[in-house]
Amino acid sequence: MGLKMNLPTIALFLLLAAASAAGANINIRKYGAQVNSDITPALTKAWKDACQTPGTNTVVIPKGTYRLGAVQFMGPCKGHIELQVRGILLAPGDRGYFKSGSWVNFQRIDGFTLSGGGTFDAKGKHVWGKRSCSGIRYCGDLPISLRFDFITNGLIKDITSLDSKQFHINLLGCKNVTFQHVNVIAPDHSPNTDGIHIGRSTGIKIIDTKIATGDDCISLGDGSENILIKGVTCGPGHGISVGSLGKYKNEAPVVGVNVVNCTFINTQNGVRIKTWPNSFAGTASDMRFENLLMKNVSTSMLIDQLYCPWNQCKAQIPSKVKISNISFKNIRGTASTKDVVKLLCSKSFPCQDVKVTDIDIRYSGRDGPATFQCVNIKPTTSGRLSRNIRSTKANPESQSSGSRWNDGPLLQTLLEDC
Ligand SMILES: *[C@@H]1O[C@H](CO)[C@@H](O)[C@H](O)[C@H]1NC(C)=O
Ligand SMILES: *[C@@H]1O[C@H](CO)[C@@H](O)[C@H](O)[C@H]1NC(C)=O
Ligand SMILES: *[C@@H]1O[C@H](CO)[C@@H](O)[C@H](O)[C@H]1NC(C)=O
Ligand SMILES: *[C@@H]1O[C@H](CO)[C@@H](O)[C@H](O)[C@H]1NC(C)=O
Repeated sequence: MGLKMNLPTIALFLLLAAASAAGANINIRKYGAQVNSDITPALTKAWKDACQTPGTNTVVIPKGTYRLGAVQFMGPCKGHIELQVRGILLAPGDRGYFKSGSWVNFQRIDGFTLSGGGTFDAKGKHVWGKRSCSGIRYCGDLPISLRFDFITNGLIKDITSLDSKQFHINLLGCKNVTFQHVNVIAPDHSPNTDGIHIGRSTGIKIIDTKIATGDDCISLGDGSENILIKGVTCGPGHGISVGSLGKYKNEAPVVGVNVVNCTFINTQNGVRIKTWPNSFAGTASDMRFENLLMKNVSTSMLIDQLYCPWNQCKAQIPSKVKISNISFKNIRGTASTKDVVKLLCSKSFPCQDVKVTDIDIRYSGRDGPATFQCVNIKPTTSGRLSRNIRSTKANPESQSSGSRWNDGPLLQTLLEDC
């Protein structure tokens, strides 16, 4: 018999091929998980089985509310693994359950998807602002909600991280990981609840994602390389930050950061780069901040090489972190304070090759007009650069309000300021 196949045989053959490529679907109910109960053992077992099976395997947490203790999902796995969270997962409220420093930790997996439309609710309200450890056996740092360590080729989509106790999401040593349609939600008063923190990772994309939290929406630590942040809405929060850099010895460069088409609403900063004075050497370069909409943002563009919260450092000794090849382009909107742009670079290592193009940020407070501050930096400016300046002529419209700022040419002022 040759390789002759009739039509039904071909159809059956294709069907079988499709089924085996799809791999196994493992519903954690089959492992004894029930709604409103603790699914930690069932989920751990389901993950182990899926991880040990070749092909693409999906672990499904169906709709419903479940309790989940601190867990580690370890690779390497034999194939591609997907965790589909369709339900709501509740962390223990008590910080004593978290000896590992995280609630849900994914480690050393190549080929990983987290999806499903579900929610990780870390119940941070129970611990925010509480510093007393009495009566609790373990009293380390508060846990990070979702921790990705050494993940390669990953996709995290359609999930929500709610009310983390500390950072929502942390990446360390990851390569080629994309976040898409992720929601991060915590109130603006929640301390240290950074949305997504990236460290020592390369090829990370954060796309079409909404982050509302009490600290940085996205923060990039040392060794962040080739990062794309696109279509992100940030606010409330402290904006999108590079750094702080220079606090530790041998920090890896931050290089290749693109922040494009993002919106900031009521945030403390828009985009910023911060480095410590009296610091170790380091570099931050090749960054592009483009097409950004600011809605009632304090300081839209900030380079702060004097970053020294709580006077932890000798601020008069300049930062040794070199900042270069930075472009700010088409940044527009409104400001909540007059300090709309602050570019404060190091005296020892002035910022190099900084381009500022098409900036239009309005401030309408009584203490206006908006200001630009430049220290140890000579940016190249071009395009439309406007800010509202005080009208010197009597303006019929402004008489009733008493205080009104009109558009004016900024370029000259900016050059004077810098
Ligand atoms: C990056 O990861 C995604 C998601 O797992 C995968 O589809 C893609 O092929 C990877 N890209 C490269 C260059 O390996
Ligand atoms: C940003 O948005 C503009 C206008 O919608 C679009 O033309 C551009 O391609 C977008 N940029 C990126 C990098 O997606
Ligand atoms: C400056 O950075 C951009 C990325 O934002 C990069 O494409 C370009 O090659 C860099 N230029 C130099 C001279 O390194
Ligand atoms: C603008 O931001 C300030 C401070 O961040 C806040 O107090 C104020 O309510 C915001 N205004 C609007 C209209 O949201």
